[in-house]
Amino acid sequence: MPIASLLAAALVASASTVVLAQAPTANLQSCVPAGAYNAAYDYFPNKAQNLSSSGFTVAYYPNYKVVTNIIANTTTVLYQCGTPAPANGSIPAGAKVVAVPVVNATLSDVTSLTFIELLGKRTTLSYIDGVDFIVSPCIQQLNATGAVDELESANQTLQDAQFLSTSVVFGSPFGAAPEPNFISFSATSAPSPLLRSSWINFISLFYNAESDAATVLNSINASYTCVSGAAKNASTAVATPPTLAWAQYNAPSQYNNNTASWQFNNASYKLAYTRDAGLTPLNSAAKFTSAADFQVRFPFPLPSLHDPLTCSQPPPPLHPPPTRPPSPLSITSSTKPSWALLPGPHSSPNTTSPPTRPSNSSRTSKSTAQISSRTPGSGPRGSRPPYPSRMSC
Ligand SMILES: *[C@@H]1O[C@H](CO)[C@@H](O)[C@H](O)[C@H]1NC(C)=O
Ligand SMILES: *[C@@H]1O[C@H](CO)[C@@H](O)[C@H](O)[C@H]1NC(C)=O
Ligand SMILES: *[C@@H]1O[C@H](CO)[C@@H](O)[C@H](O)[C@H]1NC(C)=O
Ligand SMILES: *[C@@H]1O[C@H](CO)[C@@H](O)[C@H](O)[C@H]1NC(C)=O
Ligand SMILES: *[C@@H]1O[C@H](CO)[C@@H](O)[C@H](O)[C@H]1NC(C)=O
Ligand SMILES: *[C@@H]1O[C@H](CO)[C@@H](O)[C@H](O)[C@H]1NC(C)=O
Ligand SMILES: *[C@@H]1O[C@H](CO)[C@@H](O)[C@H](O)[C@H]1NC(C)=O
Ligand SMILES: *[C@@H]1O[C@H](CO)[C@@H](O)[C@H](O)[C@H]1NC(C)=O
Ligand SMILES: *[C@@H]1O[C@H](CO)[C@@H](O)[C@H](O)[C@H]1NC(C)=O
Ligand SMILES: *[C@@H]1O[C@H](CO)[C@@H](O)[C@H](O)[C@H]1NC(C)=O
Ligand SMILES: *[C@@H]1O[C@H](CO)[C@@H](O)[C@H](O)[C@H]1NC(C)=O
Ligand SMILES: *[C@@H]1O[C@H](CO)[C@@H](O)[C@H](O)[C@H]1NC(C)=O
Repeated sequence: MPIASLLAAALVASASTVVLAQAPTANLQSCVPAGAYNAAYDYFPNKAQNLSSSGFTVAYYPNYKVVTNIIANTTTVLYQCGTPAPANGSIPAGAKVVAVPVVNATLSDVTSLTFIELLGKRTTLSYIDGVDFIVSPCIQQLNATGAVDELESANQTLQDAQFLSTSVVFGSPFGAAPEPNFISFSATSAPSPLLRSSWINFISLFYNAESDAATVLNSINASYTCVSGAAKNASTAVATPPTLAWAQYNAPSQYNNNTASWQFNNASYKLAYTRDAGLTPLNSAAKFTSAADFQVRFPFPLPSLHDPLTCSQPPPPLHPPPTRPPSPLSITSSTKPSWALLPGPHSSPNTTSPPTRPSNSSRTSKSTAQISSRTPGSGPRGSRPPYPSRMSC
């Protein structure tokens, strides 16, 4: 064996994380060590499937994947870190090229945040636009400890530097930045709730987390199908299935001549929610500048509140699995969902008290105090923040 090969073999053997004496059996969570690349291996044994009409596709090659965001018309080539980047001639013209798995990320738009959290990757986040508006207590905690900082908005030079300091920037195509690592994320353009959820697969491609994404998406799908099925049964059980309207108030602003208005919102995903629950969406382009006129024209009776629809399912397998902390946002799933309407008398609006929310003025100090006063999953019960007990960062 030549000296160089011996050296390479020794290097590989001493690498503590990945020793690739054979083709990977799961997508790698780190780089291929120097000298260990083997062009004959398939580096992505876990593959995401194309989901028709989700708005993106992925094509797999042995050491890279080509991801196309159809909605934004952008293509990204993701190659396994530690293997050669594909030659420019063999990839689509204009494609951005990123090594995966990405180690850190900036969010210039937060629509990808929950997907990243569900994949157990929130600690890869460095800069986020609008940290103050994020409800995830774990992100608030990361901000409090300095791991996550607000994305610079005033100083463009500094913002550019922040963008380039992370492997990737996920953002809205409507605010697309010129940086070579800016990735347009279009979940909110997908037409239905489940197709929006399927964009977790898009995010997972960057983390080599296709397998985890499939688990989460199946779980979301099972939950959604379960609850919407219960709603549909309840809707069809009554003589006249109700019509449902999504009313929208437009506050006065520079965009509407400082004139308030009321109208209906028929975004496709809202219509999908409506139909999936067995309800008929109201189709009206009517618009009012007076709330009184609105109520006269559409005198909707205030609905009596019904019992919540639930699916009683056994606790899910915690995701991500045991060695990692459970994701606070995992969705209850089961292979055999069983579900039911909760029994009991109809409650009047006043008997169901909504969860108390801290006022905005006390939010920051209060939540910071609560977070710092306990380690996740421990501490006296009374000191816990009002999050599900499974919450853990
Ligand atoms: C997804 O669709 C694209 C384009 O239609 C195709 O090239 C690719 O091979 C498909 N990927 C998978 C995983 O089936
Ligand atoms: C999509 O992008 C390609 C490559 O950048 C460009 O040639 C093409 O005109 C774009 N298509 C549309 C519909 O914008
Ligand atoms: C592809 O082209 C870009 C810029 O034109 C260059 O930076 C990069 O190194 C090239 N990649 C390969 C693998 O040749
Ligand atoms: C947390 O976010 C705020 C913006 O809301 C930022 O000003 C602050 O520097 C961040 N905290 C740390 C420790 O990075
Ligand atoms: C903007 O940020 C850059 C890089 O940090 C810094 O050098 C520059 O002074 C800043 N500009 C202003 C106007 O603060
Ligand atoms: C992102 O990770 C790279 C590689 O480890 C590191 O050089 C860079 O400083 C990180 N960026 C931030 C903002 O921490
Ligand atoms: C949800 O599950 C159904 C039935 O298995 C399947 O047809 C559909 O493609 C799934 N949707 C998503 C977004 O995974
Ligand atoms: C909903 O109705 C269908 C058809 O009658 C039935 O098979 C299903 O079990 C019902 N689901 C629930 C939760 O009642
Ligand atoms: C904007 O509002 C002002 C006063 O309310 C009114 O005079 C003006 O005609 C409005 N302009 C448009 C374009 O509606
Ligand atoms: C909502 O409905 C109105 C009237 O039918 C139509 O003009 C508008 O384009 C629709 N909007 C959406 C988002 O579908
Ligand atoms: C609900 O509470 C409001 C305000 O406290 C009160 O005016 C109303 O009568 C109550 N309605 C019922 C049904 O108890
Ligand atoms: C919320 O915060 C704003 C700005 O600080 C303040 O004007 C408003 O009174 C607060 N609202 C409540 C309910 O505390």
